[in-house]
Amino acid sequence: MSIITDELAFALSRATIAAALAAAKLTGRGDERAADHAAVEAMRDALAALPIKGRIVVGEGDEAEALFVGEEIGAGKGPALDVALDPLEGTTLTAKAQPGALSVAAFAPRGGLLQAPAIYMEKLAIGPGFAAGVVDLDASADDNVRALAKAKGVTPAEIGVCVLDRPRHGGIIEALRTVGARVHLIGDGDIAGAINCAKPETGIDMYLGSGGAPEGVLAAAALRCVGGQFQARFMIRNDEDRARAEKAGIEDAKRRYALNDLVSQPAIFVATGVTTGSIVEGVRFAEGQAETHTLAMNAATGSICDLRLRTRA
Ligand code: FBP
Repeated sequence: MSIITDELAFALSRATIAAALAAAKLTGRGDERAADHAAVEAMRDALAALPIKGRIVVGEGDEAEALFVGEEIGAGKGPALDVALDPLEGTTLTAKAQPGALSVAAFAPRGGLLQAPAIYMEKLAIGPGFAAGVVDLDASADDNVRALAKAKGVTPAEIGVCVLDRPRHGGIIEALRTVGARVHLIGDGDIAGAINCAKPETGIDMYLGSGGAPEGVLAAAALRCVGGQFQARFMIRNDEDRARAEKAGIEDAKRRYALNDLVSQPAIFVATGVTTGSIVEGVRFAEGQAETHTLAMNAATGSICDLRLRTRA
């Protein structure tokens, strides 16, 4: 039997719930660092109580004081797991009280998650139900839209593509508009951006562009649970990136990764909303209580659970 059980997914959701609650108290305060710090501290405390022998492979970076890559976490009893986490995905969204801030974590048996350094990664995601290779990280944005439209039996105008709103994506956005696709620009939060491809109600069929590599592993873990495709490649822009990639043990920096290279074993993915977004609702405070919304997914069992927890604020 797999060590990746639904009970474990529920237990692990304690970590994102604790972090989301802590960050939500600082929503709209204009202080990104304080919100991030609160989420990190709360997640670290919650992880310490969990029945796992965890090792962080994607965390707050090697220089961080808490939740750094290589840190052993958990109560030391239970399954040996790799852990990828982002206590607060969307620090700016939280500081500005904008939609889409999350606390996220993924867990897999040891060796199941790629250790991704804190550098950028090119990313391409689509939802489930398509033949392998229908889109290609090395093809142009417009060719990918045409290919996906053909596979879906629609016109390019009916394809929605999510892209981080950044000057570096100007060329991609122009190509997408020229081919007639609908471009969903997001200010931050490309984990949810990729997950949206598996949620038809969002109108998003594809996620495209560069963003954090740690977020890429987390997005791949989520897509491993809900189905879909993910292709990625690290971006080495300078000597510092190269050093970080080498330190993480990345031997071939030009390698293309498929979803199963990033997440090579069935994983658990949990996300709790800080502010309301496309995959989970944000924390609601009322009458001395706080209500949280968590998505807990298990690729080993195929379970996808919506958890709502009301607790003392
Ligand atoms: P933070 O919460 O760390 O600010 O990350 C938000 C995010 O939008 C990620 O989702 C994304 O991968 C990354 O930042 C993109 O980086 P940049 O803001 O440098 O374009």
